[in-house]
Amino acid sequence: MRVSRRALLSRAGAAALGSMLPLRRGFTADNTKEYRLTAKPALVNLTGDHYPNTAVWSYDGSVPGPEIRVRQGDPVRIVVSNGLGEDTTVHWHGIRLPNAMDGVPGLTQKPIRPGESFTYEFTPPDAGTFWYHPHADSLQQLGRGLAGALIVEERESPAVDRDLIWFIEDWRLADDGRIAPGFGNRMEAGMSGRIGNTVTINGRVPETVSVKAGGRLRLRIVNAMLARVVGLRFADHLPVVVAYDGQPCDPHPLEDGRLVLGPAMRADLILDMAGVPGRSYAVTDDFYRDLAYKLVDLAYGPEKPTRDHPPDRLPKLPANPLPEPDLAAAERHQIALQGGMMSGKGMMGMGMMGNGGATWAMNGMSMIGDGQNDMSPLVALKRGQSCVLVLRNETAWWHPMHLHGHSFRIISRNGKPTTRREWRDTVLVPPRETVEIAFVADNPGDWMFHCHVTDHQEAGMMAVLRIS
Ligand code: C2O
Ligand code: CU
Repeated sequence: MRVSRRALLSRAGAAALGSMLPLRRGFTADNTKEYRLTAKPALVNLTGDHYPNTAVWSYDGSVPGPEIRVRQGDPVRIVVSNGLGEDTTVHWHGIRLPNAMDGVPGLTQKPIRPGESFTYEFTPPDAGTFWYHPHADSLQQLGRGLAGALIVEERESPAVDRDLIWFIEDWRLADDGRIAPGFGNRMEAGMSGRIGNTVTINGRVPETVSVKAGGRLRLRIVNAMLARVVGLRFADHLPVVVAYDGQPCDPHPLEDGRLVLGPAMRADLILDMAGVPGRSYAVTDDFYRDLAYKLVDLAYGPEKPTRDHPPDRLPKLPANPLPEPDLAAAERHQIALQGGMMSGKGMMGMGMMGNGGATWAMNGMSMIGDGQNDMSPLVALKRGQSCVLVLRNETAWWHPMHLHGHSFRIISRNGKPTTRREWRDTVLVPPRETVEIAFVADNPGDWMFHCHVTDHQEAGMMAVLRIS
């Protein structure tokens, strides 16, 4: 896997981060907030003014798509029109919503055909940092740029000086700026997935993010990449994690000094700007040891600090109304993650030849593509049942496993209870490790449960969990 330094390091003036495009939104008579999104091709500049533009697939002409911002408990209506040459849908990742609004073609809705539209309506019960993306031809549609942030604001937001989002995407660009072909490459699909050569924040290869000494930031980080896991280090700064995947956690410093986020995962950080005016501090990603790179510089303005020392109290986010699983009464289900290269079961692991082209499986079953309605569920649960899923990764690769329509607690890793028992909607399972998650199956319907390394999802690591 080669990463072009030129692409990663290309720079052209300070990118204007955090200045998202103006929103197209309105309020309807019943006070539902309404948005319109059109999925369509667009030409954008990802790498800087002196570099070629890139033809992408976008929502409303921009990558990432418009930021959708609603208040917890307020209804929202989003009319999605399809201006692409192929079917699409939108999945509201992490939102606990009715099954019919979940955006999985063939399972929860008919695909949105070219030229048609579909109206999504839901009321987000949880405040936090979420995102949206297609669930049709996912590898290409997400890989060509269809994704955006969905922020649900708390009724009372914690006091910070600035609320900033870093929507991180990863592109594989050719030298002429075009998105390189070859989506779904077999070899890659059986390994780490399609990792790009160009990382953008809010749609641009960043040079610096301007900050002011003494300020307090709430930094919302979204890993919207197809396959890349990041491990972010903040030189000389001490960020505090206050939420994972939109769900508040006990505030704590970064484990081992870095923030590890697999594809689809998010974290909210409180970052006190304790640096020296006029200086710059690097944020680096060294998840893959040989491929460490500088993501961006935090560049301090020359002004004197706005405060002598940071406010001593950390803002605590109000808890979301999540149902608490009853572990004593919980049903336990074992789920083995299988397949891929170097699994120890032959070159391509199990299933490569005989399983309809699948490279990956869960308990020997492989669902490929974007989901189908003829797949028998991997797990069936009664509504209201507490449940523990034991995820055993038998493969040599990392898998960020995402459950639709629910958030779950991470209760153990390799048999050891976790200390924070944090809530998440996507859990990163390291190679050969076992993670237990617990939740209440309170949301009826057929829900996707899949790896969010998009190549893995499309090549078989996907299943349906039925709640009735
Ligand atoms: Cu981000 Cu099936 O989801
Ligand atoms: Cu995976």
